[in-house]
Amino acid sequence: MQTYLVGGAVRDELLGLEVKDRDWVVVGATPEEMLAKGFKQVGADFPVFLHPETREEYALARTERKQGRGYHGFSVYSAPDVTLEEDLKRRDLTINAMARSEEGELVDPFDGFRDLKDHALRHVSPAFAEDPLRILRTARFAARLTPLGFRVCDDTMRLMRQMVAEGEVDHLVPERVWQEIQRALHEHEPDTFFEVLQACDALAVLIPELAVPGVLEEALEALRCISGSDTETDQRVAALFSVLDEETARHRAATLKAPNDCRSLAGLTAHFKAEVTELCSMDRLPADRLLELLDTADFWRRPERFQALTEVLECALPEPERAFLKVLGKAADSATGVSPKALMEQGLSGKALGRAIREERLTRIQQSLPDTNN
Ligand code: CTP
Repeated sequence: MQTYLVGGAVRDELLGLEVKDRDWVVVGATPEEMLAKGFKQVGADFPVFLHPETREEYALARTERKQGRGYHGFSVYSAPDVTLEEDLKRRDLTINAMARSEEGELVDPFDGFRDLKDHALRHVSPAFAEDPLRILRTARFAARLTPLGFRVCDDTMRLMRQMVAEGEVDHLVPERVWQEIQRALHEHEPDTFFEVLQACDALAVLIPELAVPGVLEEALEALRCISGSDTETDQRVAALFSVLDEETARHRAATLKAPNDCRSLAGLTAHFKAEVTELCSMDRLPADRLLELLDTADFWRRPERFQALTEVLECALPEPERAFLKVLGKAADSATGVSPKALMEQGLSGKALGRAIREERLTRIQQSLPDTNN
């Protein structure tokens, strides 16, 4: 039995990056032998085990065969006679297909180390095409490693295009797609992820509304702006979708199975963007429309949410309209001074209380507004 460190850990160690997860491959063992050594089996279908102390994953060397489309139809073949090279061969990129033995020797049958030095994201073999998720993974590695000079190789880009043309991406389940998008949004250059997907035509399948020349550039500009600082996933999604109308933004976020906070902030951003454009064309700002915006954003109960939205809008709005955010911020600040408690102490309750709060807020917003909107 021989154990090897494989995949991302070997890659990151050679790149001098922090190693987060360590995955191992075991050659020459049976599941029974692993269980006898105290390893715990993870799941029923894959021959993967957890180390009893480190909790790191140890997989028996395996090959995979595919029979169906998309992410379905894999059959795993694992036996003590499957070699390390066979296991590495079914992996996605050459830089992810290196192993290190317990003695410290690098096992690199597909020239991953050369590609690492050449900054090349290159597929290991035609078996890359058996898993369309690898298109998204490759785009994600580009988003992570482009700042180090990495590029997707021409051959790999051609293969990815061919996979898209053959309809492979159509069959990916939304959960897996979302998982990759979510991770990509937090890589060094999230915009590169979408550029690679556009270059291989996968974006037109996954988020067709963005795959339009002009629209994509504008979306990526907003994304670059928001991802320049330490922002959350929902803000990044909202910036990306800020070029879409509200209904489309909500629909697309829902079909991607993005979490609720992403869906709502994306919808809210698109809603605000349209409203702000209209309000900015008016000579005088109507206080009731500003109050309505603050109500829609649930500002009174969740001011931090409004703050997150404002940060997105700073990136999503064109320069002249950005000035409106200051006006809205001032209006919000002045209206927070209204105290429902004080009004209740004056004996107001129910609908009358609601009306009084609204009137008071409107008055304060009105007072905070500039004389003209120019
Ligand atoms: N792998 C693959 N195809 C996939 C998923 C994984 O070939 N669809 C292989 C790659 O060799 C990868 C390894 O399995 O290196 C481990 O996968 P994972 O832990 O998901 O990725 P990492 O390469 O470790 O990447 P990250 O740093 O993003 O975790």
